[in-house]
Amino acid sequence: MRVLSGVQPSGTLHLGNYFGALKQHIELQQEHECFYFIANHHSLTTIQDAERLRQLTLDVALDYLALGLDPEQATLFRQSDIPEVPELAWVLSTVTGKGLLERAHSFKDKAARGIAVSMGLFSYPLLMAADILVYRSDLVPVGKDQVQHIEMTQDMAGYFNTTYREVFVRPEPRLDEAFAVPGVDGQKMSKSYGNTVDIFGPPQAIKKRIMGIKTDSTPVEDPKDPERCNVFVLLRLLAPPDEVEQWEQRYRQGGLGYGEVKKRLAELHEATFGVRREVRAQWAARPDDVEDILRAGAARARAVAREVMADVRDACGIVTAGS
Ligand code: TRP
Repeated sequence: MRVLSGVQPSGTLHLGNYFGALKQHIELQQEHECFYFIANHHSLTTIQDAERLRQLTLDVALDYLALGLDPEQATLFRQSDIPEVPELAWVLSTVTGKGLLERAHSFKDKAARGIAVSMGLFSYPLLMAADILVYRSDLVPVGKDQVQHIEMTQDMAGYFNTTYREVFVRPEPRLDEAFAVPGVDGQKMSKSYGNTVDIFGPPQAIKKRIMGIKTDSTPVEDPKDPERCNVFVLLRLLAPPDEVEQWEQRYRQGGLGYGEVKKRLAELHEATFGVRREVRAQWAARPDDVEDILRAGAARARAVAREVMADVRDACGIVTAGS
């Protein structure tokens, strides 16, 4: 079974990205053939600063490596090293109705927030479908917000297969059952809401951020519902199950101050990611080795993409000098 996913280089890695995506990507590497790529073409829809995009692209590779991606087991590469992807996106655009793309939440949400919609943002799902279909991926582990894109990919695979012949396999989304990750203000954690808790920032800054998590004004003595507390929901992601149970009881008993839970959350954060921060710094000091990993990954991924794309061209009668 081939697993594939992509991460956009668009900002500093936070708990929401980790529990929504990277954690499950890394867990899957032992059981399956995994392809993970840095979606730098997708980032052009939001980041239009060359130096920053270069840095963020490297950052995603460092994050994966620091968090335990094993380049021998999983294939890590840059989207832009696979020219078959934009080529396939074009072909898919010719079998896909405009109406399908008009239903995408991704651009509609941005439009609703007053962001001008470029053609790239509008056709984002086509590029994403090409990312998935070009490797004949079976399973795509993603966060909830990406499920619609996977359903569109299934539709596009179907349109192509019925127009020409069965070239594509139908990919399935895989959702992590991790609880939704709330940000410091209680909304979904997201860079665009400015409510994130980073994974690798300086420990003092992270602690400060955690101590500032919004809580309600229930007096210390009163019993509290842990499920409704942002601090508890975050703690549950990081603490061992028996500790989670103890906190749960203490919430319900009353007599618990939020400051105490926040302090523990900051400790758990450091215990989980502190060592990883050091591993990340070690990789950051070896950019040539990181580049080698990305190139080797691209070579493996491209071997598959070349074959599938040759099949696509053949199915639709596109002749090139090289194939
Ligand atoms: N759109 C995804 C996100 O923002 C990133 C992405 C691009 C992706 N191409 C993909 C994810 C292909 C899975 C498969 O999270």
